[in-house]
Formats: sequence, structure tokens, C-alpha cells
Amino acid sequence: MESLESQLGKELANLDVSESDQKYIRYYLDLIKQKDTPTSEHSMRLAILGPKVARCLGPTMDQRAMLFTGGLHDIGKIEIEDDVLKKTKGFSAEDMEKMVAHPIISYLILEKVDLCSAEMALRHHHNQEDGYPSTEVINRLSKLTNGEKAKIEYHSLIFSRLDVYDAATNRKNDKYDGKVLTPEEVRPILIEQNPEVANEVNTLYDAGVLGSKKIIVPGIEIMVPGKKDQGVSIATTINEKA
Ligand SMILES: [Fe+2]
Ligand SMILES: [Fe+2]
Repeated sequence: MESLESQLGKELANLDVSESDQKYIRYYLDLIKQKDTPTSEHSMRLAILGPKVARCLGPTMDQRAMLFTGGLHDIGKIEIEDDVLKKTKGFSAEDMEKMVAHPIISYLILEKVDLCSAEMALRHHHNQEDGYPSTEVINRLSKLTNGEKAKIEYHSLIFSRLDVYDAATNRKNDKYDGKVLTPEEVRPILIEQNPEVANEVNTLYDAGVLGSKKIIVPGIEIMVPGKKDQGVSIATTINEKA
């Protein structure tokens, strides 16, 4: 299976991201890797998935912003102490105060490269069950004009679906009885939380951008798109295992 680093490198080149922006993103991805491997892998996966999702949903989507946001939306966690970061339950009020700050720190880091991405990072938990930071805090920090607001709010909704999708399908979560969910189990959760983008979620599943299953047989890995009427015979990629 191709490494996350290699897939990200191809996407950065594909989107013509400047050398200096690539350095900036990689610098912070390295920092989060040293701090917390699961968050680093989650961020890399979302940096790779974000542009694919944008391409699938059409030309109004900003592929670069989806990549930057995916990579650095959780970068604010570098400021959270390890014992709080590793917790999955039993957060005290003080712990929560630290957790709630991470989208704000991510915003401050990302606004130096891309304002759209920064605003998406600021809002990435707002559309989730956690609902932070508050609308008041977002409005106080936001530098968006009214014209830009609708675009960013839509992108933020889509991105928050990807954030929940990736976390739920890759990490055990107390919200789901300590289980890692399958892509199909996450689909109704994504729609229930934000029904205004139900069509987009279904489009992504039907196209196999979300929900592809990895089947491992000795020596090879086969990615099978999630659409129900597509079978193993149309596997999109077959990769020699390194
Ligand atoms: Fe986050
Ligand atoms: Fe995240």
C-alpha cells in the first residue's frame, strides 16, 4: 500500500502547492507526528481525502483549501498536554477548556498560509456534536466578508463530515461503545448530524470516495468501492504490498 507521505506528496504536486507552502505544511505535520501519531495519521489521511472529495463534488469546491485544512485542522493539539490529549473519556472542565482551544490555535497557524483553510479549521468541531467554539467566538475571530461566508460554511460542513468519518472508521471511540465503526455504520451518523449535506454524503459513498473497503489477501491489498451494486471485479486499485 502506498504510504501516506507519498500520496500526500503527489497531491501537493498535483495542486501546484508552492515550495514555501509545502514546507510550512510539512513542518507542522512533523510537529504533530512527534506529539501524537494517531492525530498525525488522521491529518495526513484527511489532507489526501479532502481534495478527492472536492473533485467529486464539483468545481465550486476548493481542493487546496480541503488539503490544507485536512493537514492542519488539528495542529492546535500541539499545545495540549499529553495526558489530556490521550484521554478518551472523563474530561474535566479544565481539560475541556484546553481541548476547545485547539481549533482556535489551528486557525492562527493556518491563516498564515490560507484564510479559507483557517476558517474551516476554526469551525471543524462547530458542526459536530461537540459544537465548539461558539458562534460568538467564531464571529469575533473571523475575517470573512459576507460574500465569502456562505462558501466557507459549506466547505466547513463537508469537512466536518470527513473529520467524523475518518475518526470513527480508524479509532476506537467512546461515543460508539468503544468501537471502530465500518464506513456503512458511519454513513447514517454523518447524515443525521448534518442533514443539509445528506446528498453530498450519499454522492461520496456512491462514488466510492467514502466507504471503500480494504480487503487483504496474502501479498495484495484490494480497495473495493462502497457502492452496493459494484462488486469485487471492478476493484479500483490493486497494490503490491511492500
Ligand atoms: Fe479537532
Ligand atoms: Fe480532526
